[in-house]
Amino acid sequence: MAKASDYSLGPHTFPRGWFVIAESSELTNKPIALRFFGKDFALYRGESGRPVLLDAYCPHMQTHLAGGTSAELVKQGKQIEGDSIRCPYHGWRFGPDGNCDNIPYFEGNYPRSAVINSYPVKEVMGCIMMWHDPESSEPAYPAPYLKEWDEPQWVRWELDHLGELAIHPQEILDNMADARHLGPTHGAPCEYFETEFRDHLYIQRQGGVHAGYGCMLTTATWYTGPGILLSKQRFGDILTFELIVLICI
Ligand code: FES
Ligand SMILES: [Fe+2]
Repeated sequence: MAKASDYSLGPHTFPRGWFVIAESSELTNKPIALRFFGKDFALYRGESGRPVLLDAYCPHMQTHLAGGTSAELVKQGKQIEGDSIRCPYHGWRFGPDGNCDNIPYFEGNYPRSAVINSYPVKEVMGCIMMWHDPESSEPAYPAPYLKEWDEPQWVRWELDHLGELAIHPQEILDNMADARHLGPTHGAPCEYFETEFRDHLYIQRQGGVHAGYGCMLTTATWYTGPGILLSKQRFGDILTFELIVLICI
């Protein structure tokens, strides 16, 4: 499998951007263990409803915050207090900013090293999106949002988990410029085709007659950063229907 360096994409293995890491519907006050970008995370929903994403390992003795089920605290569902989370081992509590805010058996100043990395997360269009940046900068652009998500005439999506591909993400992005697969793969050879880079957006516009439906298919497709593709697709000229596709890498 190609590495980022093979594509001259800089020193980091994983790119910066917004990435979908979970679905809203699976996020409760029961923390879940995630692994992305070669790292382990703990994701949970605080009592205020906000999603919180922390590095998985407690700075005290490196216990995974969401990795086990045997601790009494976990069995009783008492890990989350407000928007903070308690480590199942000795019960140290960490706020959504990752700072230790309580040690059950200790009064006084908490050790300065008692802090976990916390990551920017947004809940958008039924998805939990995280800002991943190997240089730990704040988000450079907003997570994508479509107003259609909140319009009643649209049916909301549920995500299919399609699994893992043993390829570099760049090879998926490269597909945006591939005009000649549209006929053989999608049944609608393009009559017009263009791509555009605009800041963090990578946009494709194309259209052609769809062999299966016997009508025009026009699409406007764009990546918001390297991880999230949205595509508005319109079938037909006079009687039309529209759909929106979301693909998360
Ligand atoms: S290992 Fe987390 S509180 Fe001790
Ligand atoms: Fe395609």
